[in-house]
Amino acid sequence: MKINDEFIVNIENFSNSGEGVAKVNGQVVFVEGACPDDEAKIKITKVNKNFANAKILEIITTSPHRTEPFCPMQKVCGACNMQFIDYDYQLKIKHQIVKDAMTKIAHIETPVNFPIASPKIKNYRQKIQYPIAQTKNSKRILAGYYKPKSHEIVNIKYCPIQPEMCDKIIEFIREEALNFNIIGYDEKQHSGDLRHVVIRGSEYSGKFLVTLVLNRKFEVFSESDKFVQFAKLLADKFSEISGVCINFNDKKTNVILGEKSVCVAGIDFVEEKIIDKVFKIGTNTFFQVNPKSAENIFKYVKNEVSKSETPTVLDAYAGIATFGIVVSDISKSVISVEENKESIEKAKEVIVSNNISNVEVYAQDTLKYLKSIKKKFDITILDPPRKGCAQEVLSETLNHTKEKIIYVSCNPATLARDLKYLKEKGCKVESIQPFDMFCHTTHVETVAIVKV
Ligand SMILES: C[S@@+](CC[C@H](N)C(=O)[O-])C[C@H]1O[C@@H](n2cnc3c(N)ncnc32)[C@H](O)[C@@H]1O
Repeated sequence: MKINDEFIVNIENFSNSGEGVAKVNGQVVFVEGACPDDEAKIKITKVNKNFANAKILEIITTSPHRTEPFCPMQKVCGACNMQFIDYDYQLKIKHQIVKDAMTKIAHIETPVNFPIASPKIKNYRQKIQYPIAQTKNSKRILAGYYKPKSHEIVNIKYCPIQPEMCDKIIEFIREEALNFNIIGYDEKQHSGDLRHVVIRGSEYSGKFLVTLVLNRKFEVFSESDKFVQFAKLLADKFSEISGVCINFNDKKTNVILGEKSVCVAGIDFVEEKIIDKVFKIGTNTFFQVNPKSAENIFKYVKNEVSKSETPTVLDAYAGIATFGIVVSDISKSVISVEENKESIEKAKEVIVSNNISNVEVYAQDTLKYLKSIKKKFDITILDPPRKGCAQEVLSETLNHTKEKIIYVSCNPATLARDLKYLKEKGCKVESIQPFDMFCHTTHVETVAIVKV
């Protein structure tokens, strides 16, 4: 097989990077824009050692799972790479992604349940992070997502997976920023003022927290500063905005937020309700992007905790202690551990405002915390970032857990790796339940219940 070879293939599968998968003479070929059950004429674009890449020249038989994307930008914007596949079939693909990880990486026989669908599949995304740039000649501000595999911004005016208000706020920034002499960021030159706009929304309150990420070192602005004036105008323009923050990030990095933020208009959080508790979400605190689907996960985990009689619970990688607070009324005591100080501050406020007396929070690294204690918990909830848990963390978790581990994961591959380790240490994986939190993308959230 070589570049420019053409073949007629059936698309058999969908990869977790968002491409159709076909086989030519036993070799795997990833086909851009292809849907399982398409029959297509393809052209090879790249040949690697174990696989090849291809593009579609012609669809000969259209897959019954194809649907018209509801976003006009779907083909150019890299965000929703499954939107051309009908939603029920998206769930089947995610089911397969988790099943493949469990069999190929974890070698676990525990059946994987069918994913629980997201209650909303449009306007569900309550967190947006748009990179900002500026055109060279016309000096227009660009705001949107990057094209796939590039840093070229798709200037998005309308995004149907996020609340309409986000489009309005972004449009206002696009139109008004130049009037304040606020310049869009030039990544190559590392120059300009505004590098990102981050918006956190709330299903519960309908409010939005806007953060302007500046290409600046931290400084104390006066009331007359152009950024403060601009932030105030933005907050005045939309009654739905709860507050506007400025974040300082002068580093040459892909990391969006710098360490320091200040609130220059309104308040520095939005409130979100999960089950019966109201949480505070700030600029730099973790919170699931799809609160409706997240609530299904919180209910599922709470139900699992309720199977033990008033257990002691460790909530590790806690964010704003969401799991800890949600299970507090059915637990004897809870300890939530999270390394981000801003998240822990928000958690403390919620604990006080909800009159909760049995949740303690620690701003600490999970491993350091586990190594520093002697006590054991009935249940440990682990909800690490995509890279999963280090083996030392898993081993320490086993030392400190009596009954079960509830492992919440946003990456099936690292979950499978960690379950393999736990199984080798004698644990039993009782159930695996995926949830669809990121509709129209290949991302999938999974909760595994592990008996220790
Ligand atoms: C996937 S989020 C889960 C947050 C929370 N459980 C929730 O559902 O909202 C992972 C969290 O782990 C935190 N984190 C990452 N590494 C950590 C570490 N080594 N120790 C403690 N927390 C960590 C991150 O700051 C983030 O808040």
